[in-house]
Amino acid sequence: MRLSAAIASQMRLLMQLLADALRVAFASFFSKVGYGRTGAGAGTALSVTPVERKVDEGRAQNEMTTPTSVNYHFTRQCNYKCGFCFHTAKTSFVLPLDEAKRGLKLLKESGMEKINFSGGEPFLHDKGDFLGKLVQYCKQDLRLPSVSIVSNGSMIKEKWFQKYGDDLDILAISCDSFDEATNQLIGRAQGRKSHIDNLHKICSWCQQYRVAFKINSVINTFNVDEDMAENILQLNPVRWKVFQCLLIDGENAGEKALREAERFVISEQMFQEFLERHIGVPCLVPESNEKVRDEIMRFLDCREGRKDPSKSILDVGVKEAICFSGFDEKMFLKRGGKYVWSKADMKMEW
Ligand SMILES: C[S@@+](CC[C@H](N)C(=O)[O-])C[C@H]1O[C@@H](n2cnc3c(N)ncnc32)[C@H](O)[C@@H]1O
Ligand code: SF4
Repeated sequence: MRLSAAIASQMRLLMQLLADALRVAFASFFSKVGYGRTGAGAGTALSVTPVERKVDEGRAQNEMTTPTSVNYHFTRQCNYKCGFCFHTAKTSFVLPLDEAKRGLKLLKESGMEKINFSGGEPFLHDKGDFLGKLVQYCKQDLRLPSVSIVSNGSMIKEKWFQKYGDDLDILAISCDSFDEATNQLIGRAQGRKSHIDNLHKICSWCQQYRVAFKINSVINTFNVDEDMAENILQLNPVRWKVFQCLLIDGENAGEKALREAERFVISEQMFQEFLERHIGVPCLVPESNEKVRDEIMRFLDCREGRKDPSKSILDVGVKEAICFSGFDEKMFLKRGGKYVWSKADMKMEW
């Protein structure tokens, strides 16, 4: 097999891109996304106001295939062992830097405005330099309005901020508990190192190097009764994304899975109770399974609770690949998927 063909076929499996949104006309972007009660249900009010537009069919199709916001899971390797993880280490392949850049350029040419680097653990490969070079490329060469990362935080060094911090808009650190023993039980830990101390350290580096700081938490059987409000308010992230633990067949559930996450799963009601307890935290953005399942938004078709990969964008281009992915634009908007995502537009007091 020729190298490019080999890479492209690997790409099919490995360049797991979450097409987070479509380009849609907005009256305005929202700098704050609130959470509160709406009607009977709690924790759902993400207010976005799409402008109604009459579009012809061709244009509508075009809007449906524009990957405004993309998640790029460039590695599946990780140093943590979170028992619920739905992105497991099925392979150690990482695309060569130049090919990764080529894919990103294709996405930019197709309308990408926001890139989020995820994994596996994105700071693991090449001690964070691979990631740093992609961040730099996306900001300086592709001039993307928003470049972000989601990480467990354990491998991040101050030096990385010194080298690449200018080009990063948002850093999200995952933290599921403010109790060290719970983190150990979940597997959100490496050895005896404190995940929470690290979270605080990264929070202050973000402040120092002017990167917007976010927190992600997965609510599961081990942390569902916790009250995290005080800790979150103290850390004061721009957003606190709270996910209901999700099962994906072949990843963390089912025969071929590397993990069995069933024991972490909580009911919708338990999730709602957790949200109710944290109603006083204004930066909270909830993600219940109901919503996530409706629009996993990858170039992986996750509509059936599986990850069926689309064709590679390097083989067939972005439009054809994204058509496969079962994207639900309305659900994206309902979740407040589009918000102020460039640090230049955030009114931050650094
Ligand atoms: C797969 S991780 C990769 C990035 C990095 N290793 C981390 O943990 O932040 C991306 C996000 O998915 C979340 N996640 C992992 N497994 C999940 C699950 N079963 N349900 C919901 N969210 C999950 C993680 O907590 C994290 O915020
Ligand atoms: S840190 Fe946890 S959630 Fe993130 S990739 Fe590793 S095992 Fe999965």
